[in-house]
Amino acid sequence: MKSISDQMGVVLIVDFGAQYSHLIARRVREAGVYSEIIPPSSTAAEIAARHPIGIILSGGPASVYVPNSPRLNPQVYELGIPILGVCYGAQLMAQQLGGTVARNTAGEYGCTDMTLIAPSFDNSSTDRDSPATSTLHAGGLLLADLESPQTVWMSHADCVVEPPEGMSVIAQTAETPVAAFEDRKNSLYAVQFHPEVTHTPCGQIVVERFLRDVCGSTASWSTHCFIETSMKTIKTQLGEEVAICGLSGGVDSAVAATLVEKAVGSQLTCVLVDTGLLRLDEAEQVIATFQHHTNIRPVKIDAGDRFFEALAGISDPEIKRKTVGETFIRVFEEARQNIAPNAKHLVQGTLYPDVIESGTAHAATIKSHHNVGGLPEDMDFELLEPLRWLFKDEVRSVGTELGLPDELVYRQPFPGPGLAVRIIGEITPGKAEILRQADAVVREELKSAELMGEIWQAFAVLMDIRSVGVMGDQRTYGYPIAIRAVTGSDAMTADWARLPHTVLAKISNRIVNEVHEVNRVVYDITSKPPATIEWE
Ligand code: XMP
Repeated sequence: MKSISDQMGVVLIVDFGAQYSHLIARRVREAGVYSEIIPPSSTAAEIAARHPIGIILSGGPASVYVPNSPRLNPQVYELGIPILGVCYGAQLMAQQLGGTVARNTAGEYGCTDMTLIAPSFDNSSTDRDSPATSTLHAGGLLLADLESPQTVWMSHADCVVEPPEGMSVIAQTAETPVAAFEDRKNSLYAVQFHPEVTHTPCGQIVVERFLRDVCGSTASWSTHCFIETSMKTIKTQLGEEVAICGLSGGVDSAVAATLVEKAVGSQLTCVLVDTGLLRLDEAEQVIATFQHHTNIRPVKIDAGDRFFEALAGISDPEIKRKTVGETFIRVFEEARQNIAPNAKHLVQGTLYPDVIESGTAHAATIKSHHNVGGLPEDMDFELLEPLRWLFKDEVRSVGTELGLPDELVYRQPFPGPGLAVRIIGEITPGKAEILRQADAVVREELKSAELMGEIWQAFAVLMDIRSVGVMGDQRTYGYPIAIRAVTGSDAMTADWARLPHTVLAKISNRIVNEVHEVNRVVYDITSKPPATIEWE
């Protein structure tokens, strides 16, 4: 069976641990080219087997001089596939191919002026001694036609001081003598700056130039094309078999289910598990929305007791997540007998950020997303995850193209473990109820202030402490509720929302008046990073 990348042509991004690898993947996809992130341990044979049209070496925190710093298998340079090195990737390419990287402790950080330089010779011809003057303009091929000087974003200590033999320097800065170099003959390109961040205004042009002029991409990646290709893949993968899909009401599982339903129709049964940790009236609203707008008729399973029992006594966030992940699977396995006997496949709306944040061989585990790192090993299902390589806004475009209503597509994300990761400390049905009521107030007030559209996610968190208050001349000793409201365009970074004080005041007032056992409200003013969006 042909994968999406085989059918569309893929650019592989070798992740050397950079904070920005996912942004490179985004830029490539914005240029209409399918991209995936792979670990540096990938062998040349594994890479060649994917038939990539290009490879990008990401940045990373290491120095090429540090023992055990991540390396590219040197045979990859011999595959004849175009390569673009970025920051650490540029230094690594220089070092592995015989150039010189200087160890530096001071470094160059932030916006920097970069001057373009004409290549010293035209190595697009096989004879390096006979310059073809037409290509010897400032910036070479990769940076051709850009203004000089040009603002770029730098974040490095070490730098390349001499490119490998046969490569030409095409840009420099005051601190970095080799800010970009290229070897047109062998399709090797490198930039010390970060083209993937918005602080580099020419970044997208550079990425597109590499993709179009070096890799020969045809910009075939689009939402429409993704849907067509995925439907074929899903049909082939399922054949005549049946599958079940766990719906959470969030956009990810809704889009995954709709895509699979469109591909295989009644072979799919959708299940909505009420974990007891959903938001106020959520299960009913989700079922009504699906009934109204799609062909999907979700089966509801009440499993609140089961989840509370499994979570009793657990305070550790990772154990909570894994417990929720496992309980979901056990509920699906048991429900299968009644709703879709013989179902071998479980459809999940797993997204790329879930995969990255759950930890890969080279990325630290930030949180085990219930649908990735939280799955039990002895699970009796094969996973079908058609959105595994997409970012949230790409999933939303797919949802819209599939005809889902805005109320589903632009619904705020809600984590699979639900209120479990918003109740700090031990979870009880009573605490879940307190949080559900407080959370409903937050969302109602933001909706009535017409602020929901500007906010990525807004919710309440129940803390595991109590504080003293006074209500009606009586001492109270109750829980504080934290309000979390963040802005952003994907869940990888976020900023706290500057909500009007009047709205915060109203929310606080209503919560302490209406929600039993809560006597204090605080507002979380931390961005991601360094915090995360959910508290656990
Ligand atoms: P964090 O808290 O890591 O969250 O900044 C990033 C985004 O992911 C959502 N989230 C989850 N979604 N299963 C999910 O389906 C999970 O286990 C999970 N954990 C976090 C979170 O709500 C935010 O949108």
